[in-house]
Amino acid sequence: MVAALGASLFAAMVVWSAEVEAVATVPDARAVSEAAFRKIATVLRDPRCMNCHTVTDFPRQGDDRHRHIMNVLRGGDNHGVPGERCGTCHQSANQVNGVPGAPKWGLAPLSMGWEGLDDHQLADAIKDPSRNGRRTLAQIQDHMAHDILVSWAWNPGGGRKSPQISQAELGRLVQEWIDTGALSPDKR
Ligand code: HEC
Ligand code: HEC
Repeated sequence: MVAALGASLFAAMVVWSAEVEAVATVPDARAVSEAAFRKIATVLRDPRCMNCHTVTDFPRQGDDRHRHIMNVLRGGDNHGVPGERCGTCHQSANQVNGVPGAPKWGLAPLSMGWEGLDDHQLADAIKDPSRNGRRTLAQIQDHMAHDILVSWAWNPGGGRKSPQISQAELGRLVQEWIDTGALSPDKR
C-alpha cells in the first residue's frame, strides 16, 4: 500500500517535472528564426556568393572581392556585353587553368544585389518577390539547397575557399528560418 502510493506519487512527480522541462525547453520561435538567418547571412556574404550578387555593373573576384579583370561588364542581360560574354571564358565546369565555371554562369540581376545590406535588409531582400525573382519561400529554400550556381561555391576550383558551413547545413537553416516565421533579424 505504501509502496503503491509511493510509486504513483513518483509517477506524478515524473510527469510534472517532464512538463516543466517541456515548457523550459520550448524554444522562442523569434530567437530561433533570427539566429538561423544570422548564420544564413554569413553564407550570403561569403565572397563566393557576393562576387556574383553585386550592386555594380561588373562582377568581382577573389576573397578580397576586387573588380573582375579585363574590364568585364554586366551588360543588359547580366551575362556580359557583346564581345565579352561570361560564357566565352566561363565554361560549364571549372577549368584546370583556374577559370571557374558552371552552367548558366552570369551575374545575379541588380534586384538580387546584396552588397552593403545588413542582416535585416538581407532577409527582407530574400523574402521580397519583387526582388527575388518571384520566388516563394519554398523555392528560395530549394534554390539555396540545390541550385547549380549555389552548389558551385562548395566546389569552386582554383584553390578558392568555400563558405564555412556546408550547403546541406545551409538548406537546413533556411528551412528552420521559414518554419519559425522567416523573420528579419533586428537591426544591430
Ligand atoms: C556565378 C554567379 C553566381 C554565384 C557564384 C552565386 N549566385 Fe546566386 N544567383 C545568380 C543568378 C544569375 C541568380 C538569378 C537566377 C534566376 O533568377 O534564375 C541568382 C539567384 C540567387 C537566389 C534567388 C534570388 C534571391 O535574391 O533570393 C539566391 C537565394 C541565391 N542566388 C543564393 C546564392 C548563394 C547562397 C550563393 C553562394 C553560396 C550564390 N547565390 C552564388 C548567380 C550567382
Ligand atoms: C575574358 C575572359 C572572362 C570573361 C569574359 C569573364 N570572366 Fe569571370 N573570370 C575570368 C577569369 C580568368 C577568372 C579567374 C581569375 C582568378 O581567379 O585569378 C574569372 C573569375 C570570375 C569570378 C570569381 C569567382 C571568385 O569567387 O573568385 C566571377 C564571379 C566571375 N569571373 C564572373 C564573371 C561574370 C559574371 C562574367 C560575365 C559578366 C565574367 N566573369 C566574364 C575570365 C573571364
